[in-house]
Amino acid sequence: MANSTKPNKNNPMNNIDDWEDNLIERYPDPETPAKEKEEFRNYVDSERVDTVREFYRINHKYQTYDFVCKKEQEFLKFNRKEMSLWEAIDFLNTLVDDSDPDIDLDQLQHLLQTSEAIRADGHPDWFVLTGFLHDVGKVLCLFGEPQWAVVGDTFPVGCQFSDKIVYPDFFDANPDSTNPKYNTKYGIYEPNCGLDNVKMSWGHDEYLYQIMKDYLPEPALYIIRYHSFYSQHREGAYTHLMNDKDIEMFEWVKKFNPYDLYTKAPKKPNVAELKPYYEALVKKYLPDTLKF
Ligand SMILES: [Fe+2]
Ligand SMILES: [Fe+2]
Repeated sequence: MANSTKPNKNNPMNNIDDWEDNLIERYPDPETPAKEKEEFRNYVDSERVDTVREFYRINHKYQTYDFVCKKEQEFLKFNRKEMSLWEAIDFLNTLVDDSDPDIDLDQLQHLLQTSEAIRADGHPDWFVLTGFLHDVGKVLCLFGEPQWAVVGDTFPVGCQFSDKIVYPDFFDANPDSTNPKYNTKYGIYEPNCGLDNVKMSWGHDEYLYQIMKDYLPEPALYIIRYHSFYSQHREGAYTHLMNDKDIEMFEWVKKFNPYDLYTKAPKKPNVAELKPYYEALVKKYLPDTLKF
């Protein structure tokens, strides 16, 4: 059965990936000619702009420190489903966009376009694998989670929200903004305490990191955990919370980002042809099943 994404109050976007149009507008590919950028702007219709804005309005309102603690307790028990990575990807692919099933790429196609571009540039195999699985945490949607608790830019909670985060004014409705415990530059954290000690807003990034943390090399884990942390990897807004290791590892997060954002091509990868390579790669690093 298709898990279609009929928009409703809690899920304003037609497609859970519509927020990425906003990302490409915010951070256009430096290699795309100006004319194509203009065409892209015309393609992103105003209705979609409004639904993405509404998505961020609720995301910024409800992603509080307490909310993240609650979600960690709920999901880091990993008692929902045990699946191989392939089963997880098949499961994720049941997320169907009703509005535009022909134009939009499915989740497997996005993963393969990302990983194939990494592979074509001759990067190490763990980096290719990271591209291939980086969004599998979006299965949260299929566990009934609202869009605003699965996708979108992530940011630290427990300290001041940076005005470098997209739609910063929407944080006015977040109770942490007026809580003196959480609304100072450092909040509950120490200067340069390291991101491992910092709670991030809840979504597919942190969830998948927690599933993968015993299996992949450290740079891969940083990519998975922080790939939506645009206010840092693009804007440098939270360097005051990072330690030397974070700074070093964020070079990988930055290296990954263009593969995530700019590889969406209309040409669909040939899944059958690519499968043997990815089967071997998955086997090399991951156990037969993973707990979700
Ligand atoms: Fe993602
Ligand atoms: Fe992605």
